[in-house]
Amino acid sequence: MANEEVNSGRRRFLTASTTVVGAVGAGFAAVPFIKSWSPSARARFAGAPVTQDISSLEEGQQLVINWRGQPIFIAKRSKAMLDILPQMDALVADPKSDASVQPTYAKNENRSVKPEILVLIGVCTHLGCAPELHAEIKPQPFDPNWKGGYFCPCHKSRYDISGRVYKSQPAPLNLPVPPYFFQDDNTLVIGVDPKGAA
Ligand code: FES
Repeated sequence: MANEEVNSGRRRFLTASTTVVGAVGAGFAAVPFIKSWSPSARARFAGAPVTQDISSLEEGQQLVINWRGQPIFIAKRSKAMLDILPQMDALVADPKSDASVQPTYAKNENRSVKPEILVLIGVCTHLGCAPELHAEIKPQPFDPNWKGGYFCPCHKSRYDISGRVYKSQPAPLNLPVPPYFFQDDNTLVIGVDPKGAA
């Protein structure tokens, strides 16, 4: 009786082992399959474009989505937030984003395709933390003269509401802008340039 229990236990172990080996085997077997995927399936695997409905986004709010394993910030700016940008030129390190990463169609005074919609890669250019959006133009514990923008809590880098880094911060560059275009008024596609641009 005791032997039977041992044996049945051993059978269970062998069955479990076989399953594990089978799973590992399947993992190895999957590699050649990737080669046979269609180009679009391969692109999806590598991080194909992401489509996002932004119809519910209100002024001062931000959506965070994932593209290629990176957070993408999609923020809606008010007219007041946009109007303050020219004043920020004197405070930021690279006002025209000459040293920073953005598509040519976003290299303008708002760093965006549509002035009110800001799209950024949400990774601090210092050591990669996620900057926080503080959209309101009002004093903050970290800046009594805050004009709205992003604050990185890791080492206190400040960015304006276009993702341009202030002078003399740990972060060396403006937040990057990914490639993107508007499929229609409320649909944003992240990861590809608009037709004919850039
Ligand atoms: S990672 Fe943002 S300031 Fe250091």
